[in-house]
Amino acid sequence: MLRHPHTRYSRLYVYYLDRLSLPHFDHADFIGLWIEDEHAVLFFHSNQDRLVADICHRSGAQIIYQADLDYQDWEAGVAIGSFNTKTLAVRPVWEQFPPGNKNRREIVLDPGVIFGSGFHPTTRLCLETLELVMLESGRKVRRVADLGTGTGLLAIAAAKLGVEKITAIDNNPLACQVARNNVVMNRCDAQVEVLQHDLTTGFPDLGGYDLVIANLYKALLVELFVDPSFWKAGMYLISGIIPAMEGDLLEALPQKGIRFLHRANCEIWRLWLLSPGGREDA
Ligand SMILES: C[S@@+](CC[C@H](N)C(=O)[O-])C[C@H]1O[C@@H](n2cnc3c(N)ncnc32)[C@H](O)[C@@H]1O
Repeated sequence: MLRHPHTRYSRLYVYYLDRLSLPHFDHADFIGLWIEDEHAVLFFHSNQDRLVADICHRSGAQIIYQADLDYQDWEAGVAIGSFNTKTLAVRPVWEQFPPGNKNRREIVLDPGVIFGSGFHPTTRLCLETLELVMLESGRKVRRVADLGTGTGLLAIAAAKLGVEKITAIDNNPLACQVARNNVVMNRCDAQVEVLQHDLTTGFPDLGGYDLVIANLYKALLVELFVDPSFWKAGMYLISGIIPAMEGDLLEALPQKGIRFLHRANCEIWRLWLLSPGGREDA
């Protein structure tokens, strides 16, 4: 049901319904359906009280909460726009690439209502460290797993930086739709596969992967860290860490053999680049 790409985001009209099973509907201003536990959350560009009332009437669903807000408020007060890293130029679909980016690899993104516009420090740290690994470390990175891909930005960036095969995973069906659309829009579909999967129920065999990217929340990181089979890949780019979490995350790491290759920080956020093999620093 996702209409893509959206070329304007101004206000968001959000309706929380008390059930998942809804009749088919379509509307030009429909942004997407977000599933949260047993609730369906509908996002529109415009007020759709009448349409949603009709959906409720046909399905027996009830609206349990509704809100309208500025897109910028949804994005934590940040105005999403174009930005550059050392070698990448990223722009949302509603902007043109500014001149002077000839030497950068371009990424066009429709972030929708999904995390991963590139404006959050946790994502930006991942992008910058990915560039460091790909372009300055001298390491061969052919296969990457992007755990919690969101908009797919990091998976697309990996593809643009030369990674041959990227597995991008998210448990949010809307994130997977948004990521797939972004992958196609950036012509990376031969390299990037997007899978809907809940990492709390397990993860793919990471044995063949050179790099795992995980910009996730603490409880899930701890769950992954304490599983010995998580540590089969070559390197781990771990983001989403604040200082208060570091003690618990360090404790969850395997007792032996994990080496810190690189640390970076931005505002309160920390990123770790780890290697289970005790290799040289990046
Ligand atoms: C902080 S966002 C990171 C998005 C993007 N990778 C970035 O760096 O901007 C975390 C993502 O992990 C996903 N996620 C959270 N819990 C998950 C789970 N149990 N299994 C798979 N994905 C999960 C969320 O849906 C969200 O898209």
